[in-house]
Amino acid sequence: MSENEFDRFAGKYDAALVGAMPPAAVEDAYFAEYKVAYMAQALPRAPRRILDFGCGTGRSLPWLKKYFPEAQLWGYDLSKVSLQAAHDACPDATLVSQWDDLIDVRFDAVLAANVFHHIPPLEQLHALSQCCRVLEDFGEMFLFEHNPSNPATRWVFERCPFDVDAKMIGASAALAMGRQSGFRRVSLEYTLFFPRPLAFFRPLERWMRKIPLGAQYCVCMGR
Ligand SMILES: C[S@@+](CC[C@H](N)C(=O)[O-])C[C@H]1O[C@@H](n2cnc3c(N)ncnc32)[C@H](O)[C@@H]1O
Repeated sequence: MSENEFDRFAGKYDAALVGAMPPAAVEDAYFAEYKVAYMAQALPRAPRRILDFGCGTGRSLPWLKKYFPEAQLWGYDLSKVSLQAAHDACPDATLVSQWDDLIDVRFDAVLAANVFHHIPPLEQLHALSQCCRVLEDFGEMFLFEHNPSNPATRWVFERCPFDVDAKMIGASAALAMGRQSGFRRVSLEYTLFFPRPLAFFRPLERWMRKIPLGAQYCVCMGR
């Protein structure tokens, strides 16, 4: 999807996402918080600076602020209209639409939440290598993507208006891309097994991370 198309969706991103989901699966901000809570659990120490790569309208930024109150937050996205909404969501974050503004900055953690399937396949490796280069030694990158093996995820994906030109990335392809991008440590876990009505089962997820049926997966990468 082009930059202008996300500019077009910026004002109605949440509504488009919710409209594509069956009512039982709608969890509003919970999806965004889930990913940030996952990062907080996985990071060995409090990060000083975090990049939300492809931050869009800033759905993760307030959660990053809540879970990492001491960290400097940065957001990068090609869509300038989305960045305006991200500024409203988190006025403290530094938001940029030019990669050149980031090349001299180093991050302890990088989050990419549902971004890479919107990057043309031939450009994905380059984008992930860029993320690797701005990561501090011992920093961690968290790449969340839809799991094509989950039928409910496929159902939502096929109905989501901003996913029409996108193609889901299989977990093994994402792992391979992580290894090719310069990361030394690359691992995969499945996430988001239970929709909101079954949220009381969520504590079980920590024993389910290797089962390839979560609605999403996370590739954790370090250097
Ligand atoms: C589905 S949205 C996800 C936004 C946000 N991460 C979230 O969780 O709500 C995908 C975002 O990726 C951005 N994007 C697409 N290609 C990109 C690229 N090459 N570099 C940075 N951002 C990109 C789009 O502009 C869009 O805001």
